[in-house]
Amino acid sequence: MCGIVGYIGNKKAKPILINGLLRLEYRGYDSAGVATVEKNGITVVKSKGRVAALESVKAIDSLEGTIGIAHTRWATHGKPSDENSHPHTDGKKNFAVVHNGVIENYNELREFLGKNGYSFYSETDTEVIPNLIDYYYQKDSKDDDKKVLRAVISACSDLNGSFALEIISTFLPEKMIVVRKDSPLVIGRANGENYISSDIPAILSYTKDFYLLNDLEYVVLSRDKAEFYDKNLNVIKKDVVNIDWNASAAEKDGYADFMLKEIHEQPKSIRETIGSRLTSDGICSIESLELSKEYLSSLNKIYIVACGTAMHAGLATKPLFEKLCHIQTEVDIASEFRYRDPLIDEKTLVIFISQSGETADTIAALKLSKEKGAKTLAVSNVIGSSITREADYTVYTHAGPEIAVASTKAYTSQVVLMSILAIYFAEVLEINSDLIPDLKKAILKLPSQVEEVLKIDSMIKAFAKKVYTEKDIFFLGRGIDYAAAMESSLKLKEISYIHSDAYAAGELKHGSIALIEKGITVVSIMTDPALTPKTISNLQEVITRGAKTLVVTNQDLGDKVFDNVVKIPETISLISPVLSVVPLQLFAYHISKEKGLDVDKPRNLAKSVTVE
Ligand code: M6R
Repeated sequence: MCGIVGYIGNKKAKPILINGLLRLEYRGYDSAGVATVEKNGITVVKSKGRVAALESVKAIDSLEGTIGIAHTRWATHGKPSDENSHPHTDGKKNFAVVHNGVIENYNELREFLGKNGYSFYSETDTEVIPNLIDYYYQKDSKDDDKKVLRAVISACSDLNGSFALEIISTFLPEKMIVVRKDSPLVIGRANGENYISSDIPAILSYTKDFYLLNDLEYVVLSRDKAEFYDKNLNVIKKDVVNIDWNASAAEKDGYADFMLKEIHEQPKSIRETIGSRLTSDGICSIESLELSKEYLSSLNKIYIVACGTAMHAGLATKPLFEKLCHIQTEVDIASEFRYRDPLIDEKTLVIFISQSGETADTIAALKLSKEKGAKTLAVSNVIGSSITREADYTVYTHAGPEIAVASTKAYTSQVVLMSILAIYFAEVLEINSDLIPDLKKAILKLPSQVEEVLKIDSMIKAFAKKVYTEKDIFFLGRGIDYAAAMESSLKLKEISYIHSDAYAAGELKHGSIALIEKGITVVSIMTDPALTPKTISNLQEVITRGAKTLVVTNQDLGDKVFDNVVKIPETISLISPVLSVVPLQLFAYHISKEKGLDVDKPRNLAKSVTVE
């Protein structure tokens, strides 16, 4: 999705803006642009294509200004083109704006502005914004230092939809105004300068001190300060939050791709997730989570709501909540949940999992749950992200920044944290389970076991080389292995573009086995001793029909001989996705590399889906 960078300080803005845009490339985009305040007004340079294309536009060489805004656009309204790229200006170039989000009523606003003498050069929803600001600015008869701010506030009050905006103006040449609503934006504070971005990693090398914005807080930035206002121009007090992420965590560190680096970081990220929440003497605690026994006992349902990989982390951990806490637990896709009037009330706890904390559907589902009286708990990786500020409670995965579009280390950390949460709930509920002490030990072993799994890489790479030209690859599993199969299949399809589906192995005979023909590849996961014999039978059915197989297992398969077996360390089946998914992340990675694809930035995908 679109990315935003901004700078106001004493250095030349252009290199900082370009550097920030390059760091945002992973989000996926099709055009880029910058605007700076120059001696003779605002200069805009933009171009279809990559940041490299923008850098080759001649006009960019002349940018000297120390205040600037920049954007990578992922086309929604209007095709990728120079005209549709951001920044956008009004006709007189009084205002320049970059925008993330969607303005739902832009047609109405365009018509209104058209009747008031404004004209448009692009097909975008964004172009109404600088024009609307100019309209209100021209209408305001009071001439004081808040005039631009008032115009921005009036314009934003007319906008329906979501927006994160950076605004510069020839009427306020030493300042910049920023505001957000349902779209991420942070301000990085440094000495005599402010950095702005939609994503913390893009400006992490300049500062670790951030202002986190709530919806419709208007910020007037000058070089050495940030002033916060509400829509009635009341001053808002805002504290700086220190984000303890290592800037080098957002670099490739010698790896060919971010995805490969992040796969290999999993032992470390899982260790960070466990942190002091689970100690070797068996103490389980979750910081800042005060859920009483009385409250947890009053629940008749837990919902886990999320999208994509995060939803798969919910599927992988639902059985733990049911088994340990004896509370019915449902998993739902946020985009479905939000529109189907779910049966929830104050006796429901809704857990939202989101790596970015900015996924539009997940945020909407969270707001709906609150309206219906449920308590909400966010599981996120990004400190201060939108869902963490909306939810009643938040726990962080602490996996470090995840840059590759395909989620890997965030998934394993989500599964680990959700497992610890289930144990914590069971202990608060004083439910005695023989499983809990074993589970705690098993979770503590996971980081070193993932290290073991990562050593199996060459065998997986060899298999990937054999099958990378295939058109379809299927995944099978039962129970918890079905949840892991779904995640593995998603990983493969998103970065290899090979058609893939995951099936509950027992469902095969009810239709999908019709797809099996000679030579097709079927990947099967088997980690549950109670279900392995059943899955073996299903696997034999597909082998009989000519399939070649890859088996990921920690079981002794007895006298059953399969061609390609990846043996992973033993653990309790309920947490096995943390181990079984890792070789299949590598499988997807190697297939994508064999096909010569862009692993970190797969086509049509964005890292965080901030629009519906
Ligand atoms: O930031 P979130 O965890 O809310 O993102 C949810 C999904 O968009 C995300 O997991 C997506 O499915 C990944 N690209 C999968 O690798």
